[in-house]
Formats: sequence, C-alpha cells, structure tokens
Amino acid sequence: MSTLTKLALGAMGALRPRPPTGKAGKSIKLPAPDKSGGIPLMRALAKRRSSRAFARKPLPLPILSSLLWAAFGVNRRGGGRTAPSAIDAQEIDVYVALPDGAYLYDAKAHALRLVAASDLRRVTGYQDFVDEAPLDLVYVADHRRMRLVPVAQRESYASAAAGAIAQNVYLYSASAGLATVIRAWIDRNAIADALGLGHDQHVVLSQTVGYPRG
Ligand SMILES: Cc1cc2nc3c(=O)[nH]c(=O)nc-3n(C[C@H](O)[C@H](O)[C@H](O)COP(=O)(O)O)c2cc1C
Repeated sequence: MSTLTKLALGAMGALRPRPPTGKAGKSIKLPAPDKSGGIPLMRALAKRRSSRAFARKPLPLPILSSLLWAAFGVNRRGGGRTAPSAIDAQEIDVYVALPDGAYLYDAKAHALRLVAASDLRRVTGYQDFVDEAPLDLVYVADHRRMRLVPVAQRESYASAAAGAIAQNVYLYSASAGLATVIRAWIDRNAIADALGLGHDQHVVLSQTVGYPRG
C-alpha cells in the first residue's frame, strides 16, 4: 500500500491489518539464540546503517530467535536484559509483526505469544516497505511498570530504553547481514488498536528488519 493511501486511511482512522498469511501458533517456543556467533563489535559498528529496501524472503526462526534475544533478551541470572532501563523497570515490550500474526516477545520464556491473528505489518508505519518486509517490531512502553519513575520523566526514559533496544537490533542486523530501520513516522492509534493495547501502554517506535533487496 502506498504512503499516500496509508496517510488517507490513517486520517480516517481506517488503517487496518490484512488477513494473515499462514496459520499463527498461539505460542511459539523460540530455539536457543546463538550467543557465540557474529562479527567483531567494531566491525558491526562500522557497518551499522539504516536501510529501506527489503526482500520479501522470510526470516528463519533461528535468526528471529537470535535477533530478539539481542534486542531485549534475558542475558544473566536474575532476569537482567541486553538493553538498559531506568531503575530496571523493563517497561518496553517488544511486539513482533509477522505475516501470520502479531506476537509479544516473552523474554523470560524466550517465546512468542500470539496477540492478533492478522498481518498487521502495514499498520506499523506510513512507509510502503513495512508491508512486505518479513518483520516489523513495535516497541511499546507499559507505564504501569514505571510507577517509581517521576511522571514527567516516563516518556523520555521509555524512549531512551526503546532506543537502546533498537541499537541492539541495528548491531545484530549489521552482523547477520540484515537490513533494518528504526521508525517514528507511525500511526500510534492504529497500532494500539491493532495490538489491542490498554491505556497505560504507549507505542514508542517501530523497526523493520529483513534481508536486503537486490
Ligand atoms: C527517533 C528516530 C526516528 C526515526 N524515524 C524514521 C522513520 O520514521 N522513517 C525512516 O525511514 N527512518 C527513520 N529514522 C532513521 C533515520 O532517518 C536515520 O537514522 C538517519 O537518516 C541516519 O541514517 P543512518 O541510520 O543510516 O546512520 C529515525 C531515526 C530515529 C533515531
């Protein structure tokens, strides 16, 4: 769908998901992430960049697993994560929009939990490439977990936490030969509706990931 069509539908509050491709599982246990692979950190930093041309090729489950673990997985005893959060509130939830459905990443179980059996990739942003790339991530701040953070700071702290997760995805992508771009040009209401979010859950950013086109 073109950006212009999306803008028009968005203005009417009518930017909606598509029917799913394939059958969504209620829960998908992810394979163990590959924590020993990858290119050296300094090379990944040298390669990091935003890309907006994606092939339609799906991401294999082992790659999705390592990507999500790198993004915001549990990396130590006690439940610590690969990205920081103020007072360790861990307020960002990572939603995973795939062709067969939208899932919540359950970092503790390293599993995906189905939240919508529809293809809501096109709802995750105004840019046309988000519809066809194999994966769109959505970072959602759950303000109920930030009760100890002063109200005036909650939004900026959540943005910082989502930014750290996004950079993890950039670095993993650089290492794994994937293309990615973080996106703020999104219809937050349309995404919240499609994911069935509550009043305390705020959509912060979205990020597309896939194989580079061409
Ligand atoms: C908060 C934030 C929001 C962004 N929003 C978008 C967006 O909506 N669409 C997009 O194509 N790129 C978006 N970008 C990516 C920037 O355009 C990109 O990082 C910038 O042009 C620098 O390019 P580089 O990432 O390749 O270094 C965003 C980046 C940030 C940090």
